Amino acid sequence: MTTSLIRRGIPHVPGRVPLLGDIRNIDRRRPLQNEMALAASLGPIYERKVVGLHFIYAAGGRLAAQCSDEQHWERELYGPVTELRRFMPRSLFTAESSDPLWGQAHRIFTPAFTQTAMRRYHHAMQWMADDLVAEWSGGCGVVDVHSAMTRATGEAIGRAGFGRNLGLFGATADGAASRAFFDAMAAMLRMTADAGSQLPGIGILRRWQREPTVRRHIKLLNGFADDIVADRVQHPTDDEDLLNLMLTVRDPETGQRLPPENLRAQLLTFLVAGAETTAALLEVALHFIAADRQLQDELRAGISARGGFDYQAVTGMRLVRHVLNECLRLWPPVPGYLRKARSDQNLGGYRIPAGQTVFVLALAAQRDREVWGPDAGAFDPYRFEPDRLRANPERFFQPWGVGPRSCIGRQFAFQQATLLIARILSDFELTTDGAPLVINEHGTIRPAPYRLNIRRLHGSVEK
Ligand code: HEM
Repeated sequence: MTTSLIRRGIPHVPGRVPLLGDIRNIDRRRPLQNEMALAASLGPIYERKVVGLHFIYAAGGRLAAQCSDEQHWERELYGPVTELRRFMPRSLFTAESSDPLWGQAHRIFTPAFTQTAMRRYHHAMQWMADDLVAEWSGGCGVVDVHSAMTRATGEAIGRAGFGRNLGLFGATADGAASRAFFDAMAAMLRMTADAGSQLPGIGILRRWQREPTVRRHIKLLNGFADDIVADRVQHPTDDEDLLNLMLTVRDPETGQRLPPENLRAQLLTFLVAGAETTAALLEVALHFIAADRQLQDELRAGISARGGFDYQAVTGMRLVRHVLNECLRLWPPVPGYLRKARSDQNLGGYRIPAGQTVFVLALAAQRDREVWGPDAGAFDPYRFEPDRLRANPERFFQPWGVGPRSCIGRQFAFQQATLLIARILSDFELTTDGAPLVINEHGTIRPAPYRLNIRRLHGSVEK
């Protein structure tokens, strides 16, 4: 660290008050969108001290990139993630990196997210897309995007990961239980995010008030996961899916299987980490696509030119992928993460002592005008064209996190999102009533429920 450049006093949120600190300018409903707005005036690094808590935000692209360097920084569990441990203890997502169970799970699950594995899952994803298109074809021309994307992404994990139709499309025996599961999961995510953002005293009171509801939800989530595991144990398959990896595969390093008491947490993790985030991405994408007739036509032409929806065709749908990347840039479902300094660091001219955590506000850093240009806040999928990316080597774009704890499911998410957008656009024209996108924050950031108008197209691309 170069000490000569060190400045004193990280900028802070205006209106600091004695004892309570930077209590002003907090938005409890949309805290991170509020921080993004504050960052525009406070600069790439600023702090908030609230009643003994100290938050430092890296909101500029270059500083966020600096915090991504694994040699000097490491991942730290973020408040809401710690809360998730209540019902997903020691899972791939919630375990500390130092926990041997994290390494074991990471090694066991890595083969489930390779390109080869994605080819295997593709038919289950197509089955999910078929069901969605069939449902929309029989409807009244107005669709509830939130409900459809929650069910589609839940089914993608259920069918591809656990070999199980969750019954979220059409009527099957599982449907009611699965719907109750996803409702409980959404409620838990809301409460978890809320608990993580409360002031210490108020947090304890709210937690106590909510405890009976939380216990009810956790019982339901656990029961749902245990049923899936028990069913596979009673009816074994030779599928190479997530569930069989959990049950049968030994860690190549230690030779051990995952402990039986850990299976439930791992299964819930894939449903929680995978479905909610991908649904958020799809909802943002459908909003932008529906709002832009020309983009929609270009997307449709590109999809049609691929001549179908098999694995190879879908991976080559370039413009759909640019749209998804641009949505991840503007509205990353995981809007930020904590990084801890491994040793004293100089961040933007300020000393960050070893052990201090910094919140990388990806939501702001991925819109930094200094690295993405003056139109950084605008939706422009063509900025992901290879030529333009090459001309912008300093860009910060980390919607999947960084380092060994980054998202294991990114290929899975991208594959199913590309396929679903392609299938929807080849069968339907989308229009919106022009309402702006409203983004909620419940752990992930996700559009508030909205509807779209759809019109069935004739001469859809052959499936
Ligand atoms: C658009 C969709 C997705 C986004 C934006 C996303 C984003 C992320 C991010 C940012 C992290 C790192 C969080 C941190 O450092 O605290 C993460 C971790 C993780 N994600 Fe995703 N994710 C998505 C989809 C998925 C899917 C589909 C799955 C599984 C099927 C999945 C499973 C996981 C798991 C298990 C981890 C923890 C990895 C570890 O700590 O070793 N994610 N994700």
